Amino acid sequence: MGRREQQTLMVGLDIGTTKCAAVIGQLNADDRIEIIGHGESPSRGMNRGDVVNIEQTIHAIKRAVEAAELMANCRAQSLYVCISGTHVKSHNSIGIAPVRSGSVSERDVDSVMDAGRAIAIPADQKILHVIPQEFAVDGREGILDPVGMHGVRLEAKVHVITGSISAAQNIHKCVDSCGMKVDKLILQHIASSHATLLPDERALGVCLIDIGGGTTDIAIYKGGTIRHTAVLPIAGNQVTNDISVAFRTPVKSAEELKLAHGVALPQFASSRDEIEVPGVGDQPSRRLSPLTLVEVIKPRYEELFSYIGRELYRSEWLGHLASGIVLTGGAAQMPGVVELAEQVFGLPVRLGLPHDVDGIKEVVGNPAYSTAVGLLMYGRQDRAQASPTPMQGFAYWLQRAGEWFKGSF
Ligand SMILES: Nc1ncnc2c1ncn2[C@@H]1O[C@H](COP(=O)(O)OP(=O)(O)OP(=O)(O)O)[C@@H](O)[C@H]1O
Ligand SMILES: [Mg+2]
Repeated sequence: MGRREQQTLMVGLDIGTTKCAAVIGQLNADDRIEIIGHGESPSRGMNRGDVVNIEQTIHAIKRAVEAAELMANCRAQSLYVCISGTHVKSHNSIGIAPVRSGSVSERDVDSVMDAGRAIAIPADQKILHVIPQEFAVDGREGILDPVGMHGVRLEAKVHVITGSISAAQNIHKCVDSCGMKVDKLILQHIASSHATLLPDERALGVCLIDIGGGTTDIAIYKGGTIRHTAVLPIAGNQVTNDISVAFRTPVKSAEELKLAHGVALPQFASSRDEIEVPGVGDQPSRRLSPLTLVEVIKPRYEELFSYIGRELYRSEWLGHLASGIVLTGGAAQMPGVVELAEQVFGLPVRLGLPHDVDGIKEVVGNPAYSTAVGLLMYGRQDRAQASPTPMQGFAYWLQRAGEWFKGSF
């Protein structure tokens, strides 16, 4: 088989806390992405979204990318890579700039965005994304595309996302050591949102919650743009640890029990037959009802949802989520989690899968791949900016957001 056309290929690399996932997508003539390769390997060098062991992370990246390359019959040279972790912070800021020639030009928009990103950030943080929310011309607010409007004073509301310099440098170092280069570093929740959220949901108001192994990533959209982001250090691994402690069983067995029998609500238990729980060391195994498992899993998810609820309340966007909540990430697959979330939040909740992509079923139907697929969608947008076609409206400005992505990591 010959090598595939490199120009139409993109590679997304999700270095998660539990798994390192690489996906290779081909951009077809109709601008749709087809997943043609994927690879996964356990990610032992990460803790809560941060690289804690360079060697193990390099190993995990190599294995995942090589498997994807083999499947897609191509070589990965550069990658869109995600970043997350509790070091990620978000800020809303306002930039103000004069309109230089009577009507707003693209240069004025660049100036006002530069003014918006000029916020005081700690010395160990750098800007990852600067995303325009809306503009105001001479005090008239709610403008999505100000270019061409008459006025003398331009204001921009922007969402600035910062991350730890060393966390980003570690990711670069790992990818470089594998002989590849990072196209761009993208916040995990932004990538997952690209893959799972629908334009109507973003317009009406929606909260994306990506529950992974080590972190839960939150992104709120309203009016078609991002309004708030947050990262919580609780996710699926805590559920596994709780099972391990409560049943005095090794973590590996706890994970297997969770995946095989775990449910978040008792009515979702598929069988009432007792399950075998291995003991620690030379302790004998015991038999327990699966309902005992629910008694451990449910409170942990409830606790996670209560933390998320607090974050939504603190963000002041809780009352604006007309489209409700979209859950994604590996730990969102637990049966009964969507229903439990509906009970806790009192909002409509759905499971978010990667949508609008074709190709390998294990990827496109799997919420654990939302981030990796979203990276490809971000990559498609990024490439469109590099060779722009005439566009109008707010979509243009959303695309241009990447131009203000000045993370020079
Ligand atoms: N079917 C399932 N039911 C319940 N939990 C599951 C299921 N499949 C995976 N998980 C849990 O999902 C978590 C992993 O999710 P995911 O692959 O999204 O994490 P990650 O991307 O590696 O981590 P992070 O995003 O936190 O860095 C693990 O805790 C795992 O136990
Ligand atoms: Mg993840």
